[in-house]
Amino acid sequence: MFARLYNWLDERLKLTPIRIALLEEPIPGGASWIYVFGSVTLFAFLLQMSTGMFLMLSYAPTADHAYESVRYIQEEVPFGSFIRSLHHWGASLMMVAIGLHMLQVFLYGAYKRPREMMWLVGVVLFLITLAFGFSGYLLPWDQRAYWATQVGVNIVGTIPLIGDTLVRIIRGGQTLGTLTLSRFFALHTVFLPWLLMGLVVLHLVILRRVGPAGPWDTARAAAIREPFWPRQVAMDAIAMFVAFVILVGLALGLPPSLADRANPADTTFTPVPEWYFLFYYEMLKYFRGRWEIVGTVVIPVLFYTLLFLLPFLDRRPERRPFSRPIAIGAGGVLLVVVFTFLTISLRAVASIPVTDPSVVRGKQLYQYLGCAACHRIHGEGEAVGPDLSYVGTQRDAAWLMQRWKDPESMVRGSIMPAYTGLNDVELRDLTNYMLSLK
Ligand code: HEC
Repeated sequence: MFARLYNWLDERLKLTPIRIALLEEPIPGGASWIYVFGSVTLFAFLLQMSTGMFLMLSYAPTADHAYESVRYIQEEVPFGSFIRSLHHWGASLMMVAIGLHMLQVFLYGAYKRPREMMWLVGVVLFLITLAFGFSGYLLPWDQRAYWATQVGVNIVGTIPLIGDTLVRIIRGGQTLGTLTLSRFFALHTVFLPWLLMGLVVLHLVILRRVGPAGPWDTARAAAIREPFWPRQVAMDAIAMFVAFVILVGLALGLPPSLADRANPADTTFTPVPEWYFLFYYEMLKYFRGRWEIVGTVVIPVLFYTLLFLLPFLDRRPERRPFSRPIAIGAGGVLLVVVFTFLTISLRAVASIPVTDPSVVRGKQLYQYLGCAACHRIHGEGEAVGPDLSYVGTQRDAAWLMQRWKDPESMVRGSIMPAYTGLNDVELRDLTNYMLSLK
């Protein structure tokens, strides 16, 4: 059945050469689990494309509407919050996968002659992935997005001579606003995807031209030659499936929140970038004043130059890790530095009080309006109305909003006053405070 279908298609599309090119490629040393990370990265990217396209259906990239449109996706669009959550965690998956892929290539010395070009394209792909993360972070236009991006833009501003001009180009004006959002959105959804797809194709074409590197043990590489199909394909597929299961678990278990709407006037907000930028953010704190530029320009430029030039600096054909003390030592030091800063930074982030400012304001309103005259929260206040200690678990936002706006529609003849004098922000703050009572 399948063979007949294949023959039918083959006669019309001449599939055999394509099949041979894609699936029969010999892998020196045979299939291995260690090679799966490139495929997982590509898989993560394809997932980001699909979830991203669905998010675009409801997202509005303007300062006036971006935040509300994300809230709309979260609250109204069917499966909206799940898709947003998948897209959020998919970015992390892609970072982890590309990191492991690079680590494997590095450890195996697979960037060495004749695979230098594959490495160069790979480093550009890595940079594009970072740009994806940075540009996507602004799009929800909440406080976190706004202030983290502000920090990123300030970093660009410290580049000598061209810094100011670059900042103006990135922002599209004097401040972060609608033009910035348009730019980040276009970058995130058009420029970067096309660039990435083109370079992925190039990366794979080069791979097919020079072939995979295989193990560092040349005797083993020469002894065993196994085609890509079926075992390596199966390993890649299983790895993708496992990655997908983890992703869905994270997306369901830890959906990303939406902070308050971006408020350029509120400078008290502590900006926190995504975890994959955290170590760098932490490192920056050690370069203050006139040393700042060391962290914002010198170190990154040095790092990426070294990364690009790696195949041309580490030129001996020897690929065994133990015979490459300098390269492996440098890589090890880098990992230690990254994880040290990341740990310090995660500790610092954990100590930031996580109360949403909206909740704080809601609590103040609750006190100001004298709700405690009728309600009790954890033993404080009177018991005229229901106890509100756990109202956050019993009611949702829509119900509460309705409750404030039109109490008669909820409970006929309620003695609770209608709070019609409050504006939308105040009502939302009050709601958020109620929802925090769990
Ligand atoms: C004069 C007394 C009184 C005051 C003041 C009052 N409430 Fe109420 N509230 C009630 C009574 C009685 C009910 C139960 C009947 C109803 O739902 O109308 C109630 C119900 C509620 C409920 C619904 C609880 C549930 O799960 O059914 C919430 C939430 C609530 N109040 C919040 C507030 C907040 C916030 C304030 C201050 C802005 C406030 N109330 C002020 C008397 C009061």
